[in-house]
Amino acid sequence: MSIHSWDIRSKYLEFFRQKQHAVIESAPLVPENDPSVLFNTAGMQPLVPYLLGKKHPMGTRLADVQKCIRTVDIDDVGDNTHCTFFEMLGNWSLGDYFKEASIQWSHELLTSSEWLGIDPSWLAVTVFEGDENAPRDEESATIWRQLGIPESRISYLPAEDNWWAAGPTGPCGPDTEIFYWVGEGEPDPESNVAKDPKKWMEIWNNVFMEYNRKKTEKVLLLDGMHCLFDENLGVDEAVLSRARALSSRIIVVTMVSRDALSHLADIGLEVISYDFDPPKTNPDFFKKLLSEKSLSPDDVVYIDHAEENLKSARDAGITNCELFEAVRSFDKLEKYLYTLEKLPAQNVDTGMGLERITATLGHVKSVYETDIFADVLEKIRTIVWANNYHERSARIIADHLRAATHLVADGVVPKNVDQGYILRRLIRRAIREFFKMGYEERIIAEIARMYIAKFRDVYQSVRDNETMIIEELQKEEERFAKTLKNGLRELEKTAEPITGKVAFDLFQTYGLPPEMIEEELSNLGRPPFDRAEFDREFEHHQAISRAGSEQKFKGGLADTAVETVRLHSATHLLLSGLRHVLGDHVHQAGANITTERLRFDFTHPEKLTDEQKSEIEQFVNDAIQTGFSVTIEEMPKQTARETGVEWSFWERYPEIVSVYTMQSVDGTIYSRELCGGPHVEISDRMGTFRITKEESSSAGVRRVKAVLE
Ligand code: ALA
Repeated sequence: MSIHSWDIRSKYLEFFRQKQHAVIESAPLVPENDPSVLFNTAGMQPLVPYLLGKKHPMGTRLADVQKCIRTVDIDDVGDNTHCTFFEMLGNWSLGDYFKEASIQWSHELLTSSEWLGIDPSWLAVTVFEGDENAPRDEESATIWRQLGIPESRISYLPAEDNWWAAGPTGPCGPDTEIFYWVGEGEPDPESNVAKDPKKWMEIWNNVFMEYNRKKTEKVLLLDGMHCLFDENLGVDEAVLSRARALSSRIIVVTMVSRDALSHLADIGLEVISYDFDPPKTNPDFFKKLLSEKSLSPDDVVYIDHAEENLKSARDAGITNCELFEAVRSFDKLEKYLYTLEKLPAQNVDTGMGLERITATLGHVKSVYETDIFADVLEKIRTIVWANNYHERSARIIADHLRAATHLVADGVVPKNVDQGYILRRLIRRAIREFFKMGYEERIIAEIARMYIAKFRDVYQSVRDNETMIIEELQKEEERFAKTLKNGLRELEKTAEPITGKVAFDLFQTYGLPPEMIEEELSNLGRPPFDRAEFDREFEHHQAISRAGSEQKFKGGLADTAVETVRLHSATHLLLSGLRHVLGDHVHQAGANITTERLRFDFTHPEKLTDEQKSEIEQFVNDAIQTGFSVTIEEMPKQTARETGVEWSFWERYPEIVSVYTMQSVDGTIYSRELCGGPHVEISDRMGTFRITKEESSSAGVRRVKAVLE
């Protein structure tokens, strides 16, 4: 390993300085002006306004090393090439040079003996093959040929591979990518990326950004029953997130009554429901919809599961219609919802991952074998018992703690939402990997110190925040230890057999790693749980959180955190308290829970008096203080209804329902509601309930906000 990442960073910048580029600082990991993304995922992201035409104060040629975070591939971290945090070397032309200079310079920097000195026979390139948006990129291919790249090494690939955009909208264009041979032995002269994708690793991407992709701002009409809703009339998150990426105004078209769907308003969706009159198979349904919403047929795009409904929409003049079969059907809508415009100037955006190029030049197969990680991995190897050392776990730790160090340096602290959630997840995953190797000491600050030493001379953010980085990581390590302890206590108390599902719930709520549960069960002399069942639950949950998309993370821990579970249970007590104090006319009209507070809408004609508010608080706190346990029974919906179980939207529920009962040891029932969970199992540690706000929500509906302190 003769080459050091440090040298490559400085050589790269020096090369472009000599080509009259201004070297600019990395922007922070958290975008400064773009709330729609959590992190900068590419060097071009902070430069978007300039790629769109704004004048950059440093001129038209720029180069930098940008800190990036990508978590979409988090499950691949630990293989040879993936990292969550990485540094992207990049150079930009803002309407200055274009394909020719860009490709020539990339070739020169990579192959010239004065610079990185790669043997060109180890390189292959790809160019855009062309489609309805842009022509085949013969220009780039010709430039590569002129530079001596043989025909056999040039592959033409479709947009999926050779069209680059940071997101669904914004500057974009065809790209040409440079690959390095990672096959066995010397490079095969006949091999190229199209033929043998596994034998080539992408090292540099040159994007020719001459287009801007824009939303057409059409309204998306979305069928409710067969596309958006699950069987409980809950929202399918995967569908919703895909729909939201496509349109900022979504109208859910459904037969279910509007009242039953009041929860959709809470998440910003409009609803059109006509209770079968006229039915969707009649074009009048759509005519009425358009006139009620003052829309013309061209303003909307419609997706539905049934051809007959699409036909009637078409008969009403809505030509932008597609059949829904699966989430991927939304791809077909893109042509109506986006347009591609030429940008005022032709730009270049290039990106080369420092980790990969360091591995390449060091002739090692993995980024984890470079100077960037090698000493950290060595450290991990020395502290865990040799027999327990597991390379993949060690790589995950090395990657995640490097990312965590930079995240705190850039002002992120562990939380249950947004960037803070990702940070928390990275730290806890790293700790869990240590557990897997049987190491349970406090160690992460020591590793963070190694990264601080590596980066303090490169990034001011690291230099200025050394103490904070160590403190925040240590605090999170302590918090996690405490949560784990609670989890272990919970495990000991659970009398029934620990199934794979129960084990997964313990993992979800307390972060208890499955290895720890196994060990604890064996210490307690209890039978092991079904690991396959656990893995199935895990995969299912991952599919759900992935559906939440990279763009803006909600779901996941944010929803299952202990705090939200407690607030959810408090919501049931609140409804019960409201009915107890105000009367049986009170029903739930909407609810929303975050980790901080609950919000609850209910039917009641007038403002609550202070006295009523304190009686309600009293009711809830009595239940918490007396103590209750929660039981779940399954029963036919009709039986539940007859036995007086509270719920107003019966039609939302399937035939067999789960009834959650909160009951004290002496038999007092505090609440009995239909629900899907999750809830606390016992009232322990719920704290004190307090109403913080009471206001009107809409006609005949009041809203309270409340906390557990
Ligand atoms: N923006 C391009 C990428 O990230 C260079 O690959």
